[in-house]
Amino acid sequence: MKGFVEVPLLDMIQQLGEEQTKQILSDFSCPKGEDVEYFLKSRAIEFAKQSITQTQLVFLQYKQEVRLAGYYSLTTKSISVKDSGLSKSLRKRISKFGTRDTSNKGYVIPAPLIAQLGKNFTDKLNEQLSGAELLKMALDRIAAAQFYLGGKIVYIECENEPRLLEFYTQNGFVQFAERDKEPNEDGIIKGDFLVQLLKVHNPSRV
Ligand SMILES: CC(C)(COP(=O)(O)OP(=O)(O)OC[C@H]1O[C@@H](n2cnc3c(N)ncnc32)[C@H](O)[C@@H]1OP(=O)(O)O)[C@@H](O)C(=O)NCCC(=O)NCCS
Repeated sequence: MKGFVEVPLLDMIQQLGEEQTKQILSDFSCPKGEDVEYFLKSRAIEFAKQSITQTQLVFLQYKQEVRLAGYYSLTTKSISVKDSGLSKSLRKRISKFGTRDTSNKGYVIPAPLIAQLGKNFTDKLNEQLSGAELLKMALDRIAAAQFYLGGKIVYIECENEPRLLEFYTQNGFVQFAERDKEPNEDGIIKGDFLVQLLKVHNPSRV
């Protein structure tokens, strides 16, 4: 991959302090994903300090400067996958990672969530990094964690936007459910619900 360097936000806070970190994050803009910009500028530091969600910043050398090209944030949650939501073969592959939920006719599966993912559109930096490259960095990071923890499933939640669904589907994700928007997501996320997609990945580490 091109000369991208991933820096954990938590390391940056510890080494540079919050004020300087906020200064670096202020370079990020994402007009197509206001929630992605809002999270990085208003939530990411607090969530990293509390270890609710950990953020990785992706930097690159651009016109003699080191610039923030994008970021992604990871956490672990549970998903509820109904029998009716997936093909029989995929259901069989994921069932071993979850607990049978008979009342809901499905499985409850703890899984890493790519909670945020976005390129920096400031000064056209988005043209230096593709979404697929950024997503691969997030998937590789998850694969490395799952090498020790076990598990093969990763999921994402996105707005019901055709271009976003196309992006994730092209990168191997399969839609399995929708979830209602939570009250604290009002005004941040477009639409009334988020589409949930999962991927059973093969860790590239092994
Ligand atoms: C999603 C993303 C990583 C994909 O990167 P990519 O594969 O390199 O693709 P591009 O940035 O060229 O975008 C492809 C198309 O999707 C559109 N698109 C991107 N994000 C979108 C969004 N949140 N809502 C609607 N359309 C979006 C772009 O406008 C573009 O459309 P166009 O080809 O008609 O101009 C990147 O577009 C991005 O950072 N988007 C903003 C943040 C975001 O929405 N993240 C996903 C959260 S689930």
